[in-house]
Amino acid sequence: PFKENTVIVVFGASGDLARKKTFPALFGLFREGYLSDTTRIIGYARTKMTVEEFHSRIKEHFDIRDGSQDLVGRFLDMCTYESAQYDQPEGYKKLTVGIEEFEASRCVDRPHRLFYLALPPAVFIPVAERVRKYCHPGKNGVARLIVEKPFGRDLATARELQEKLAPLWKEDELFRIDHYLGKEMVKNLIPLRFANSFLHACWNNQYISSIQIEFKEPFGTEGRGGYFDNIGIIRDVIQNHLLQVLTLLAMERPISGDAESIRNEKVHLLRAIKPLNKENVLVGQYARSEDGKKPGYLDDKTVQPGSKCITYAALTLEICNERWESVPVILRAGKALNEGKVEIRVQFKETKNGIFSHVSRNELVIRVQPNEAMYMKMNTKIPGVSNRMVVSDLDLTYSQRYNKFYIPQAYESLIRDALNDNHSNFVRDDELDISWSLFTPLLEYLEGPDGPDPVPYPYGSRGPPQLNDYLAKNGYVYQGRAGGYQWPVTTPE
Ligand code: BG6
Repeated sequence: PFKENTVIVVFGASGDLARKKTFPALFGLFREGYLSDTTRIIGYARTKMTVEEFHSRIKEHFDIRDGSQDLVGRFLDMCTYESAQYDQPEGYKKLTVGIEEFEASRCVDRPHRLFYLALPPAVFIPVAERVRKYCHPGKNGVARLIVEKPFGRDLATARELQEKLAPLWKEDELFRIDHYLGKEMVKNLIPLRFANSFLHACWNNQYISSIQIEFKEPFGTEGRGGYFDNIGIIRDVIQNHLLQVLTLLAMERPISGDAESIRNEKVHLLRAIKPLNKENVLVGQYARSEDGKKPGYLDDKTVQPGSKCITYAALTLEICNERWESVPVILRAGKALNEGKVEIRVQFKETKNGIFSHVSRNELVIRVQPNEAMYMKMNTKIPGVSNRMVVSDLDLTYSQRYNKFYIPQAYESLIRDALNDNHSNFVRDDELDISWSLFTPLLEYLEGPDGPDPVPYPYGSRGPPQLNDYLAKNGYVYQGRAGGYQWPVTTPE
């Protein structure tokens, strides 16, 4: 069910994020029937352009499926554009006049307004302030504010931001997006863990030997260096996306399925993580590819010459609670690698029974992207007369099992949650605070005078050459393609 006559305002509507993610997600929701055609969508930005220019800009990344061509026009009819300043009241006042006219024409007695800030950090607070002041419907209606990272760049700046935001917008009106929480396999972690007793039973340090969450991208900064150079891979994806995934993977069972119960458990888990060990971090920066065809990070004209910015990092967390004591958790992420994928890897301990001392460890792999899947690597006897053991798997590959199902993009799923006032998959203020407390000392060390030089690795490689040693040192037993095992299995013709 959707609400009729909702108003959605996207600030930063001429920017990249809005064009590539926000508007395509809104279109996706409309295409799938999750957004009423009584919705009014208003793009707001400084850039001057006509509504036609705006439409042709935002539709560039729409996922237009068979039979949905005519929906594009209907969707664009719902979208208008306002060009105005972010720091002056006029634009906001005019915006509100337009919104109120629309609501009056539809006889709306309880306005429902969603404001989406797809903005650079410098204008974030000025806009949040003015939207609150000029565009909030007050007690007679509902207003929600979706905000995008970066939420600060360390603990002090994140707190400062939060201190400015808190008096303006109540926590239950705020939706801090971490788009990893909208990904299908991440949303499946709670059901997977707490609705399967066999998994639940062995989800602890008695059976699990290590956990890895791995993020790999096959491309470098490619012109986005100006943004990335100040941020680095830890702030860009580890402190937020990978840590969020970890909380869902490792937290205790929430007392119920509501948003606050879930977020309470995430916070408990975060508080149990030990301060990060600065000595146990592997950092890298990509260099030119081995064939010389792909540029190194420092060849990007938009980054500072000689920059020590980290484009690869592997670090190991320790969780001090009864369940996870002594299970290393490796978070690793890198740009310009040999492939693009995001995976969770839970490795189990060796079997204790001496009969099978040479078999591989069980490993549960959750493939977040691409091609959602989960498979449990397990040992089995070769079928037939042989008693030899092989590694096989229990395989749930979504494209095979669920090919008729539609998996929404992360942003679609999250915007829909925000419209329905579901906070489960958004980051609460205290989660944010703890995540920065964890990462700030490490970032200060890495970026300070004693910080290590990042190890160069060729564009298109697996990462720094020390990676295998790092993983082995931190408890991951690499079994490669033991006995010829590989996933996915390629079925013979
Ligand atoms: C963003 C980062 O938050 O996540 C990008 O800023 C990164 O640098 C992106 O590429 C990855 O998201 P996805 O959904 O493509 O895995």
